[in-house]
Amino acid sequence: MTSATQSTIINGVNLSTEVAGVPLASYVLNASGPRCTSAEELKIVGESHSAAIMTKSCTILPREGNPEPRYQNLDLGSIQSMGLPNLGYKAYLEMIPTLKQHGKPVIVSVSGFSIEDNIEMVSAFQQSAVDLIEVNFSCPNIPGKAQVAYDFEQTEQALKAITALGDKPIGIKLAPYFDMSHFIAMADILKQYPVKFITCINSIGNSLVIDPETEQPIIKPKGGFGGLCGEYIKPVGLANVRAFRELLGDDVQIMGVGGINTGVDAFEYLLAGADAVQVATCFEKQGAACFERIETELAQFMAKKGYTSLEDAKGKLKPL
Ligand code: SIN
Repeated sequence: MTSATQSTIINGVNLSTEVAGVPLASYVLNASGPRCTSAEELKIVGESHSAAIMTKSCTILPREGNPEPRYQNLDLGSIQSMGLPNLGYKAYLEMIPTLKQHGKPVIVSVSGFSIEDNIEMVSAFQQSAVDLIEVNFSCPNIPGKAQVAYDFEQTEQALKAITALGDKPIGIKLAPYFDMSHFIAMADILKQYPVKFITCINSIGNSLVIDPETEQPIIKPKGGFGGLCGEYIKPVGLANVRAFRELLGDDVQIMGVGGINTGVDAFEYLLAGADAVQVATCFEKQGAACFERIETELAQFMAKKGYTSLEDAKGKLKPL
């Protein structure tokens, strides 16, 4: 492997990529979600093979999040309703110089409860050394708050406000869509604003898992309704990446997330058109060693096919 800051080359396959003009040494990074809330957790991400350091979605003020139990592992993933536990955006602002010392891009995730919240946080991070700003429009776990990504009017108003605050690239973390009309409506909105990347997908919100023995839901918040994550949602994630790649062309870059457990999963997202992939549930279950394993498996699988770079396969899903 070559220098971690430049490009990762394994078995002759160059896994380096770029999102919104920011070079990434490899295709695989952590998602905003598990194990990226505290300074200690972010240090572990910095020391791992994750191609960037992504923070937990932050809010204006620190939050404890929803009542426990709020996360449960399942055979093929997890269900969670964390409720955005985080240190408050000022804590992440302060951490950025330290995080940058790891020599890889730092991406901050912000998740305001209003347009004004997002303006305040995005403005502050625009003045920082952060590399990319991902604005989370799709947390399903705040009681009484709808997911912005399902409200196209609010999405448009928010984009108008937050994309005019500085030069650092802004991306949006989207909810999963299930209808072609919704892909088209969202793509049409995105095209009107300088959104540099999208992240597809957040968890499938308001899912319910029931324990038949106790006759209860398995998580407490919102009567047991929470975001479904992991392998269960990979087909939905792939479809969302594919649909937006076709609708947006190469103008907006796409980070794929949802059920990436192996290098082959990452390769499927590459075929669908993802410029990079983010790992959430697998990171939660296996810890930081998963990034190196997934990137090695991806390179081995691509080498077997005779590919030498991501571009050889990116977006090149073959028709049946
Ligand atoms: C949470 O903290 O509830 C998860 C964040 C998200 O779904 O965006």
